[in-house]
Amino acid sequence: MKLTDEEKKMLEGGYGEVVAKAMDYLRQFGEAFDAERFVDVVYAHYPAEMSIYRGMVEDVVEYADTGARVKIPTTTSTLACDLDQWEKCGCPREIYELQARAVPAHRKMGILDTYTCTPQLVGFVPPKGSLIISVESSAIIYYNSVLGARTNRGGVFTRYSAVTGKYPLMGYLLDENRKGTHLFEIDLTADDLKTDSDYSALGFHVGAIVGSEVPVLDNIGAPNQTKMLALGAALATSGSVTLFHAPPHTAEADTVDRAFQGGKPKEICQVGKKEMRDVYDKLTNIGDSDAIDFVTLGCPHYDLEKLRYVSDWFERNDAKVHPDVRLWICTNRMTRRAAEWEGIIRSIEAAGGMVIADTCPVESHMRISTCKEFGLETPQIKAMVTDSCKMARYVGDLIGCKTALTDRDNCLKCAVAGKLV
Ligand code: F3S
Repeated sequence: MKLTDEEKKMLEGGYGEVVAKAMDYLRQFGEAFDAERFVDVVYAHYPAEMSIYRGMVEDVVEYADTGARVKIPTTTSTLACDLDQWEKCGCPREIYELQARAVPAHRKMGILDTYTCTPQLVGFVPPKGSLIISVESSAIIYYNSVLGARTNRGGVFTRYSAVTGKYPLMGYLLDENRKGTHLFEIDLTADDLKTDSDYSALGFHVGAIVGSEVPVLDNIGAPNQTKMLALGAALATSGSVTLFHAPPHTAEADTVDRAFQGGKPKEICQVGKKEMRDVYDKLTNIGDSDAIDFVTLGCPHYDLEKLRYVSDWFERNDAKVHPDVRLWICTNRMTRRAAEWEGIIRSIEAAGGMVIADTCPVESHMRISTCKEFGLETPQIKAMVTDSCKMARYVGDLIGCKTALTDRDNCLKCAVAGKLV
């Protein structure tokens, strides 16, 4: 790789050993992928070290002790527990105490303890064309597609980019890797594509076909921000999609032709009612007469407006969560605090729900592997209803529960009824 004088100085220890080592890792990584040079990145979304993974917290504590400091604004992704409500969530003390040790380490490094999968909803909105580095597939795909910032799946290298402000020029940072590969002609009415769960189902269907390529979705109705979030999160779940185009709702191409950069799609697929129905059916294996014990909303993490919707729903319907059901509405700690201020938390809790910050069921102690390690009953959840394909897919695989996919209002009705309605 060609290095600037400044980069050579960083690599040779002119800014200390931590920076030199980080540059060395990044250089090796870049050379393995034939990157010609480094670029400056302006923002990092960092993988909060989760205490359900062996050694991760210890590792960040040790790294922070080396004097490492981030060079660019850096936010953190989710933790393995809600640090304020871990006990109420049934999280073992050991997981909480270990997890809590990560916070001072992050702060020492200058990392912001946002602990969320939706940093873009709390103000981290890099401009179109900016180069960034991010973990969390639902954030990555949103940054790339909806905002038009450029990032690869950051993984472990996010740490090294955060402390150097550098990343090898490769992958989705390059124009040629951002052109569409498959065209999806969507033949759905406004009624078929109405809720977040519908957009999630659409993404889940498309992601399973394209894998890691770049789909172009034509005619996706009139999505708002959270529908685009739901669509992206699902694309990155059934496939490993990192970038999609949905002209004119995504940032880079205002027409389908431009999304293919003058080329032709390698495949054209139609999506209609049947494909959507198939996704709902595939992710629903709870029977009509089965009891449910868990409902999750807020995957990806909810914003304030969504929390208000839930509290209003309970008030409007004068409803309470069924005593055998846990209702988790997941968000980040900043939004939870704002919702406290507005009285939203009080109202949701009075109805029997919980607003969870920092984590979600998938990232928590409820995973089968963690339960086994801590001698907890498995599965922790028998049957979960959710409006997110990502949540349904991962809790099915990682927690081992039955699932049902339905829209948000119906999720709330199920929480009240204690069964699928
Ligand atoms: Fe976020 Fe958990 Fe969903 S990390 S995207 S709420 S699986």
